Amino acid sequence: MNKITLSRLKAIKAAGERFAALTAYDATFANLISNAGVEVMLVGDSLGMVLRGYNSTVPVTMQDIIYHVQAVSQGNQCSLIMADLPYMSYATVNSALENSAKLMQAGAQMVKLEGGAWLTGTISRLAECGIPVCAHVGLTPQTVDKIGGYRVQGKEESAARRLLDDALKMQEAGADLLLMECIPRTLAAEISSQLEIPTIGIGAGPDTTAQVLVLHDMLGIATDYCPKFVKNFLAENSSVQEAIAAYASAVKEGKFPTEEHCYI
Ligand code: KIV
Repeated sequence: MNKITLSRLKAIKAAGERFAALTAYDATFANLISNAGVEVMLVGDSLGMVLRGYNSTVPVTMQDIIYHVQAVSQGNQCSLIMADLPYMSYATVNSALENSAKLMQAGAQMVKLEGGAWLTGTISRLAECGIPVCAHVGLTPQTVDKIGGYRVQGKEESAARRLLDDALKMQEAGADLLLMECIPRTLAAEISSQLEIPTIGIGAGPDTTAQVLVLHDMLGIATDYCPKFVKNFLAENSSVQEAIAAYASAVKEGKFPTEEHCYI
């Protein structure tokens, strides 16, 4: 596989094809995931939960993400590395700029931040500075205490309209990708069809450009509650390598997610 760039991801969307994304936190898994043909590796703040055992992503720090981005970039072959800006690290435009620069210098090729239209000023400043950005909407785990738990978002008409409006504004501000977490599949399909930029879904149904899962979830080794949108790919494959390759193929061929993984 050639080195994955942002233009390649945009070309995949333009061609009506799909790409795969998966979280990665260390060099060994980064090597496996990249060699399995997964286009995007996300150094997600989910590391706070799956690696550190916290009950949310809130305690994760910049130092944590930098450490894991450095590790992932050592093992990476050709995937694009996206790194989460952790809790409160982008509360102001200046802190977003400063912290994104640190993640890019650690080895990321794109940063991800959670929120809505309030982030347009931040996104446009990052874009002016040449930092690729993925905006994360829907269920935004860093604000779990404000939204009242890990629940499906955008079910009511007004909330769905706001999500679509936020997505369009963030695209306009310069976001390069949009990640949608835990929203009804019809809403994700509508947002995806209205946007020019590629979309990544998790618990958002099959009609997005790409899918992402937390590595530990798709290997069936996470100890916590297993959400509806997760599929254990290790259960039907005989090695971790095969499971990751099966996940990547299933996403690209439109075989994952299916109806049973969707919210309505
Ligand atoms: O941190 C993470 O792993 C994420 C995914 C759930 C999308 O943001």
